[in-house]
Amino acid sequence: MKTEQQEVFEPPAEIIDDAWVKDWRATEAAAAADPQAYWEARAGELEWSKPWDKVLDESGAPFYKWFTGARTNIVTNAVDRHLRTARRNKLALIWVGEDTSKVRTFSYFALNREVERWANILLAMGVEKGDIVTIYLPRIPEIVFAMLACAKIGAVHSVIFAGYSSEALNARIDDSESKLVITADGSWVNGKVFPLKDIVDAAVKFSPSVENVVVVRNTGTDVTMDTVRDHWFDDLAKLPIAKGHCETAQLDSEDPLFILYTSGSTGKPKAILHTHGGYQVGTYTTLKYSFDIKESDRWWCTADPGWITGHSYLVYGPLLNGATVFMAEGSPTYPYPDVFWQLVEYYGITALYTAPTAIRTLMRFGDAWVNRHDLSSLRLLGSVGEPINPEAWRWFHHVVGKDRCPIIDTWWQTETGMFQITTVPTMPQKPGSAGRPVFGQEAAIYDESGHEVPDGTEGFLVLKNPWPAMMRTLYKDPDRYVETYWEKYPGVYLTGDAAKRDEDGYIWVIGRTDDVIKVSGHRLGTAEVESALASHPAVAEAAAIGLPHEVKGNAIHCAVILNTGYEPSKELEESLRQHVAETLSPIAKPDGFDFPEKLPKTRSGKIMRRVLRARALGQDEGDLSTLENG
Ligand code: WTA
Repeated sequence: MKTEQQEVFEPPAEIIDDAWVKDWRATEAAAAADPQAYWEARAGELEWSKPWDKVLDESGAPFYKWFTGARTNIVTNAVDRHLRTARRNKLALIWVGEDTSKVRTFSYFALNREVERWANILLAMGVEKGDIVTIYLPRIPEIVFAMLACAKIGAVHSVIFAGYSSEALNARIDDSESKLVITADGSWVNGKVFPLKDIVDAAVKFSPSVENVVVVRNTGTDVTMDTVRDHWFDDLAKLPIAKGHCETAQLDSEDPLFILYTSGSTGKPKAILHTHGGYQVGTYTTLKYSFDIKESDRWWCTADPGWITGHSYLVYGPLLNGATVFMAEGSPTYPYPDVFWQLVEYYGITALYTAPTAIRTLMRFGDAWVNRHDLSSLRLLGSVGEPINPEAWRWFHHVVGKDRCPIIDTWWQTETGMFQITTVPTMPQKPGSAGRPVFGQEAAIYDESGHEVPDGTEGFLVLKNPWPAMMRTLYKDPDRYVETYWEKYPGVYLTGDAAKRDEDGYIWVIGRTDDVIKVSGHRLGTAEVESALASHPAVAEAAAIGLPHEVKGNAIHCAVILNTGYEPSKELEESLRQHVAETLSPIAKPDGFDFPEKLPKTRSGKIMRRVLRARALGQDEGDLSTLENG
């Protein structure tokens, strides 16, 4: 196997002395011996208004249920219970704008006031338990308030990343039949306004379900307000209905908390459904025991709340642990490539959780940007979203962490809700390996026919044990849930990733085995990119693949068959790129194009992406016996 595997970083003594889990071998062994007992003990650290009858109900597997019969609400544990302790006066949220002179802070007490205000307004607008509320907001405190307010009253939030186009937003609103959309006038993106309200207007024009749109004033941009449908949040907040206490609804443990759309191998995004009881136990536990977060931590997760990382580890996990959440609106390089380090230094960030793409981007600007700042407050670093290459790992460890901060690489998915493979800070770390299954989990690497492969051999990564924060189903599509994740190997969860395990039990994730591409850590489906391209007048047919990219991890490369009358050119490529940005999202812009005469297909008409990839990389095309044409 790889030589990097010999490279092992032992945890520093001061980290072990202070850790929640000092002897990880003992914790791992105890949890492996009785996973349900492990999870029951963790659930016991949180508040429930009625205890559970059963920790895990497997009777309807793979539709697993956790903590059945219990009543709870994630907001009781993330906010309300802190108000009864001295934590009420500590900072729950520090927010810094893209213009870093704009700062807003909220104690747990003030956070609760904001959430109550939002919840009162939602109730007054007729939002009921089980209703799906679409949230299309930028990285501003209101996204946290709106999510928590939905949860508080038993509504289900559906957060759509505020970089998706009106078409993508429309498809997600329609699928969920949301009656209410929460948005802002605009968002700041590298000094420019991104017109969120205009995008919502275009999206809801064709969404019959939407009755109300609540608009947060953020950029101060002029927007068109529909007199019946649209409401400024500022105006609603002044009304008497917004004032006063709002009770947190006590719900069944299995009541839905949110749906989150994510890309799969077809053009239609999947709505992953998570519930209150299990999700709160999973996110609370993994941030506490795997990441070693304490309430004294100032925790900065750089992800957007529009993705699962933002849901689990910007909003819910840290608040469940009573930590201080640090949230920054801007990107890592705007206005200068040391903005991250300036914020770490000034705000005394203790744990920084970010993506390999951000690390690789910052690394290219050189060490001097980092070295001009005092980063001694940092004690832990984290990585998520895609494999971290050993070179980026070493840079993060040495230049940012000054060889003192363990790097917690966390492998997980929208579907898993919480970390699945990671190292805890007291474990030895191997650059490039995500680590070991979390306590209570067992992972394996299977061959095509479901046998475990020998250590060091690549295969399909599967998870053998159910876990509390697992998705419960695909909203409105339970058959697809069973087919996608549980049918290839009955009884175990298919992750969709390829991986190897080494002789120490560490997992080395290689990447996706399906038609999902991780571009800069963002999850995209080739079919979504293809259908965006297909609506361009020049395009007859298109195939998208992921190719390795030094900074982004993967870049999108497209083979396009042109309609007659169109010729390949740089201008056409740019027009195709813009078209994908406008019809799907700027994050999905293809890097490169080929314009072949034909696409390689099997006799049954399936595009052979393997052949396209080999052609684009100038490699051997392999076995072409099933190819229909060249
Ligand atoms: C990939 C993001 C390697 C993986 C939390 C997975 C990773 C997909 C890692 C899920 C990691 C995530 N190392 N690969 N630490 N974390 N992945 O749903 O391919 O956006 O299947 O969830 O990201 O992407 P998603």
